[in-house]
Amino acid sequence: MSKIYIFDCVTSTFDKINEFPPEHLLTVVAKQQTNGCGRRGRIWQSDNGGLYFSTLLDAKYFDNNIGFSTVVCAVAVAKAISKYGNCQIKWPNDMVINGKKVCGILTKLTSTNGKINYICAGIGVNTNIVQFDKSLTNASSILLETGCTCANDELLNDILIEIEQTLKNDKKQIVENYKQMCITLGKEVVVHHINNNNYTGICTDITDEGELIVKCKNETICVNSGEVSVRGLYGYI
Ligand code: BTN
Repeated sequence: MSKIYIFDCVTSTFDKINEFPPEHLLTVVAKQQTNGCGRRGRIWQSDNGGLYFSTLLDAKYFDNNIGFSTVVCAVAVAKAISKYGNCQIKWPNDMVINGKKVCGILTKLTSTNGKINYICAGIGVNTNIVQFDKSLTNASSILLETGCTCANDELLNDILIEIEQTLKNDKKQIVENYKQMCITLGKEVVVHHINNNNYTGICTDITDEGELIVKCKNETICVNSGEVSVRGLYGYI
C-alpha cells in the first residue's frame, strides 16, 4: 500500500515529494504543475485534466542497475494505459497511442550520504487534455486518441498496482513484457548522443538491462537511456 498525497497545484511533484519523509511507494499527485519538468531539460505541459505524479521506489529493487527502474515503470504504466487503447512504448519510456505521445516518465535519484536510497519516478499522463502547445507536435492525450475520458484517480491506482506487481517479477520477464510493447524495435532510428555523435541504424534488440541495441552500417552500438535521444528516421517513431 502506498501513501498518496493530492494537491491542486504545485511547482512540480518532484519538489513537493521532498517535503515528506521518504518511503517506498510514497506518491505525490497534482492536478496542475506550474513548473513540470520533462526529460532533457524540457518543460512538461501540466494543465488541469492530466495526471501528474511522483512515486518513490526503494533502490534495493534495482541493486546494480538503477536505470532498470525506467524499464519497470514503462512496463507498469503501459499495462495500465492499455485499458484505454493500444499503448506502446517508444524506447526508453514514452507511452504512445496511434503514434502520438500520451505519457512521459522521468526518473531521478535521491541519495543520503552518497548512498542512493530511493528512485523518484515522475510520471505525466495526458489523460483528458485536449489542447497542446503548438511546439509539441508529437503530443496527444488518451482522450484525443481513444475517445475515452479517464478517471485520473482510477488510472493512478492501476499504475501503482502495476508497479508493485512488476517489481515482484523477475528481470527477464519484465524485459520480455517491455519488448512485446516496444514500438522502437525493428525501426530505423537516429540516435543523438550527448557527446554530439549521431548514429543511424536499425533497433534490433533490448538487453537484459534495458539498453537499446542499434545495428549501424559499420558497427553495432548499445545505448543507455541517460545518454541519448532516439528519433525515427522519418519522424517521432
Ligand atoms: C518526458 O519528458 O517524457 C518526461 C515527463 C515527466 C513529467 C512528469 S509529470 C509528474 C512529474 N513531475 C514533473 O515535474 N515531471 C514529472
